[in-house]
Amino acid sequence: MNRRNFLKNTTLAGAGLYVSTMVSPPVMWGVNRIARKGLPAIIGGESIHPGGWPGWPLWKDEYDQKVLDVLRSGSWFRAGVTEEFERKWAEMLGVKRALTIANGTNSLITALLQSGVTAGDEVIVTPYTFVASVQAILNCGAIPVFADIDRETFQIDPVQIEKKVTSRTKAILPVHILGMPADMNRIMSIAKKHKLIVIEDACQSHLAEYNHKKVGTIADAGCFSFQNSKNLPIGEGGAVVSDNEEFMDRCFSYHNQGFPYGTQLGEWGGSFMIGTNVRLSEYQSMVGLVQLPYMEEQANKRWENGKYLMDLIKGIPGITPVKLYPECTKAVFHLFPYRYNKEAFEGMPRDLFIRAMDAEGIPTVSGYTPLHKEPFIKAAFESTLYRKVYSKEQLDYESYMAANQCPENDAICNEESIWMSQSMLLAEKSSMEDIAESISKIQRYAGNIMRKYKKGEI
Ligand SMILES: Cc1ncc(COP(=O)(O)O)c(C=O)c1O
Repeated sequence: MNRRNFLKNTTLAGAGLYVSTMVSPPVMWGVNRIARKGLPAIIGGESIHPGGWPGWPLWKDEYDQKVLDVLRSGSWFRAGVTEEFERKWAEMLGVKRALTIANGTNSLITALLQSGVTAGDEVIVTPYTFVASVQAILNCGAIPVFADIDRETFQIDPVQIEKKVTSRTKAILPVHILGMPADMNRIMSIAKKHKLIVIEDACQSHLAEYNHKKVGTIADAGCFSFQNSKNLPIGEGGAVVSDNEEFMDRCFSYHNQGFPYGTQLGEWGGSFMIGTNVRLSEYQSMVGLVQLPYMEEQANKRWENGKYLMDLIKGIPGITPVKLYPECTKAVFHLFPYRYNKEAFEGMPRDLFIRAMDAEGIPTVSGYTPLHKEPFIKAAFESTLYRKVYSKEQLDYESYMAANQCPENDAICNEESIWMSQSMLLAEKSSMEDIAESISKIQRYAGNIMRKYKKGEI
């Protein structure tokens, strides 16, 4: 019996065991584990998953004609297709309005600026995010203030947020990181108490749900990215969403050179507010539009596979699956995270664990590095704009850094976090078992791997 058939058969047998004895899934899965022998691939064994993974983005032949039609029409500038994409995206989220923007970063900038965030303000943000969340704050001339994360959930910790509120705080920018909802109930009540604006960075969390509400629609506004790797990929693209019509009108004007919402070029008296051009084009919108009918199904598959995989790996020594808040009714795992403790792996460095996973055919990365320590914030503080607006004390980088220590984030980034990409969760359920079995095999043979590593053989 080949390994895959064996796995299928034993999983079936295991399912019976589960139903009849109520043994928890990891234990039942442990029965298979013992039966499956073989060294890890990094030290000469067979790869567990040599067959590859679903690619990304997923293109369907049925999309061809629709995109070609837009290209052949010569109507490439923002018009009906973009409006339809916005309407349908808003409908899917259950929000009044969506406005497409050239990318997620500028969606954040647009939403922050039109919420009134400006030079002199502070915005509280998580350090565990892509740099764009923080760059957006700096682009408004505001100061990012970091609230450390909760290591169990990878999300900004509301307890830390509250500690960072000052008289200069204007907004909170929670990021639903890796496709999992942040702790929105607590964040919204802190915002209410201190009269702060909340802009959700949902750039990684298309269709994730908190209390059955789509993330991005809970606070004052939400921002999405449609960059190539995202769960709704266009290459580049983004959106701001909100129920606040007046705010959305302003966002529209800002994204379109300050021209009033609802007007066409040449129809009115001109530009009435500061604006820029961050419009999306028609063919980009069509690339998004054609994928919408498949979004829900894909999100559900990631959620189901993600939960299954969390269950499979939770019993492996040294592995801690991410904790989701009880209000999370759907996570969409733009990245599937877990925490790695090398002590349970005979001291195996995380990089070596990643190499061992790669050898099994499971592409794995360590994820973010501590972004608040990167030089860009110092560069902003040294800029003419910041020096004109802020006092010397406010721009004292050393005291800023001392006040913005995030030890929980550092631990996750530097030692613990492991990610896999969202498209891997679109594979079959048996592939989730392959992932879990790979981790388990590496853990069981950690001593053998480390001996070879120490001898310089791998
Ligand atoms: C959390 C987060 N915020 C913002 C962005 C910015 O989006 P974009 O790359 O579309 O500008 C990204 C994209 O990678 C992101 O992951």
